Amino acid sequence: MEQEIVALQSTAKEMLAAVEDTTQLEEFRIRFLGRKGQFGALMKGLGKVAKEDKPRLGQMANAAKKEMEKLFSEKKQALTSFTAGSVSGAGIDLTLPGRRPEKGQLHPVTQIMNEVCSIFENLGFSVAEGPDVEHDHYNFEALNIPAHHPARDMHDTFYVSDSILLRTHTSPMQARIMETREPPLRVIAPGKVYRCDSDITHTPMFHQVEGFLVDRDVSFADLKGVLTVFTRKMFKKDLALRFRPSFFPFTEPSAEVDIACVICDGKGCRVCKKTGWLEILGAGMIDPEVFKMVGYNPEKYSGFAFGLGIERIAMLKYGIDDIRLYYENDLRFLSQF
Ligand code: FA5
Repeated sequence: MEQEIVALQSTAKEMLAAVEDTTQLEEFRIRFLGRKGQFGALMKGLGKVAKEDKPRLGQMANAAKKEMEKLFSEKKQALTSFTAGSVSGAGIDLTLPGRRPEKGQLHPVTQIMNEVCSIFENLGFSVAEGPDVEHDHYNFEALNIPAHHPARDMHDTFYVSDSILLRTHTSPMQARIMETREPPLRVIAPGKVYRCDSDITHTPMFHQVEGFLVDRDVSFADLKGVLTVFTRKMFKKDLALRFRPSFFPFTEPSAEVDIACVICDGKGCRVCKKTGWLEILGAGMIDPEVFKMVGYNPEKYSGFAFGLGIERIAMLKYGIDDIRLYYENDLRFLSQF
């Protein structure tokens, strides 16, 4: 009997060592440790041994069974928990850091564009979009800039053909919307615009948001009010705003609006060309000639319009002193925002 116990234990140990997966482990359990297993049979066999040998052999068989049960549960633990040690043989090192999937994000200019639009939407403006490839008519003629008008020179236009061009501003949307809708109107038109222009504050493709409001009795004070609220919300501080008299053929009076340069706090730097101010938009009261071209009565209606440069706002908001950085596609730069 004694030899039987030793032999069974050694076979069981050998078989357990060869077990490679949980299915084999279950087969092992049934064969050795289950109710009808070999250790159970051994225990039953104890009934037949001589009375005086029973306690010693009983103890020995029990100890052998207990040890096998302990080895069995250790094996089970090793097979079911994926610790670094248990799977390192399979060529996997679970202590290595995982590979994070690259996370995309919106381009900083898109983020600013969205923020600008949402400020105006909260002020009751609705959003309209128009084509980048535009008719000369909407880009110039309908905005009181006939052929050979000197104002065309300021636009550095990319022509596609004699009458088709890449829009140089978002102002064509004023004419497009006004000819299809009646006042009151409160619209913003965001989008890309193109000019043959490049330096630290100019890029050949940039973004503008056009805004216009047409109703009875609209005044320049309304324009100032809307733009002041906008800059305060956008820059989250009480920035100084400067309205400089200017000229646009489609607004009268016209202004260019500057904000105190946030890069140098108005002291003067290379971005603001030592003036302490940075131009962010053009604006004015919509010219009666534009109203006449879309069939509005200028005696009845008045309105204001403005065109914001989004990249300029992004430069000021993030303290970037070269506009071209936005378009060099350097992820080290872009992922900071
Ligand atoms: C216009 O484009 C007018 N359409 C704006 C307007 C709309 C006036 C409605 C009156 C009524 P301007 O050329 O100044 O205006 O451009 C407007 C803004 O676009 C500028 O203040 C500047 O912020 C930005 N901008 C102009 N050119 C560039 C450029 N090449 N790169 C980046 N931003 C530019």
